[in-house]
Amino acid sequence: MSARNKVRKAVFPVAGLGTRFLPATKAVPKEMLTVVDKPVIQYVVDEAIEAGIEHLVFVTGRGKAVIEDYFDIQVELEQTLRERNKKVEIELLEGILPAAGMTSFTRQQAPLGLGHAVWCARDIVGNEPFAVLLPDMIMRGDKGCLKGMMEVYEQTGGNVLAVEECHPDQAHKYGIVGVGKEVGGGFEITKMVEKPAKGTAPSNFFINGRYILQPEIFNILETQERGAGNEIQLTDGMLKLLEKQGFSAYHFRGETYDCGAKDGFILANVAFALARADIRPSVEEQLKALLAR
Ligand code: G1P
Repeated sequence: MSARNKVRKAVFPVAGLGTRFLPATKAVPKEMLTVVDKPVIQYVVDEAIEAGIEHLVFVTGRGKAVIEDYFDIQVELEQTLRERNKKVEIELLEGILPAAGMTSFTRQQAPLGLGHAVWCARDIVGNEPFAVLLPDMIMRGDKGCLKGMMEVYEQTGGNVLAVEECHPDQAHKYGIVGVGKEVGGGFEITKMVEKPAKGTAPSNFFINGRYILQPEIFNILETQERGAGNEIQLTDGMLKLLEKQGFSAYHFRGETYDCGAKDGFILANVAFALARADIRPSVEEQLKALLAR
């Protein structure tokens, strides 16, 4: 048994309006847009389950009820599939269904920022460490990003953020960390800044949307002032927690696709399609032909 408090719960902030994907997101949450044949949210949930997460907490908003339906049994559909003896499809649906009682849903009533969305989960998470996974970012690697973070957490405890390197020109789009000494296969985080003005970033390491946090963050977020973009920022809350607790960085070295941006979303579809033996040959051939035009 590890001495660390186990990270059992994961929070998925899924209240975002998805304005960058209008009109698609007028009636469909952006987390339900498909990459190949699964909604974006499924990739992120799979990553959490692979890392040993036992309870999924969704912070939703108006117009997002379909996410809750997605993680439930669809009785009529499954009945029809049974009548038609569609075994493969039934197994597929059963394989992604979370166990009864394994999901919780709460609503962020107003779009006040990521820090506020995470704070909305405080009562469901309670007094234990937890993970946060931003569903915009989906990843491919030898092992899931959160799983790698759990290994660092086993060594360091405290708070762990996954980071990746970006081009200095891109740093203003992200939360950026300051780099300290090596610890537990990662490095100590010395500072954090959300969306630094061009030329002021403390490094090229950006927070890629995966967090392991201690519950003390909730008290801080409760009174957190608005920061970048006039939103209550998780990064600003974490910076305050850094005064009291350690933060380690896990350098994720896989592929990350920002499905919150059009190009990232399209690339994710291409990359995940090419990774699938059943459709790769056809997709590859047609992509080559398209690019040669
Ligand atoms: C959020 C976080 C930011 C992080 C980014 C990763 O920003 O606030 O620190 O680097 O996700 O995608 P957003 O993309 O919501 O502007």
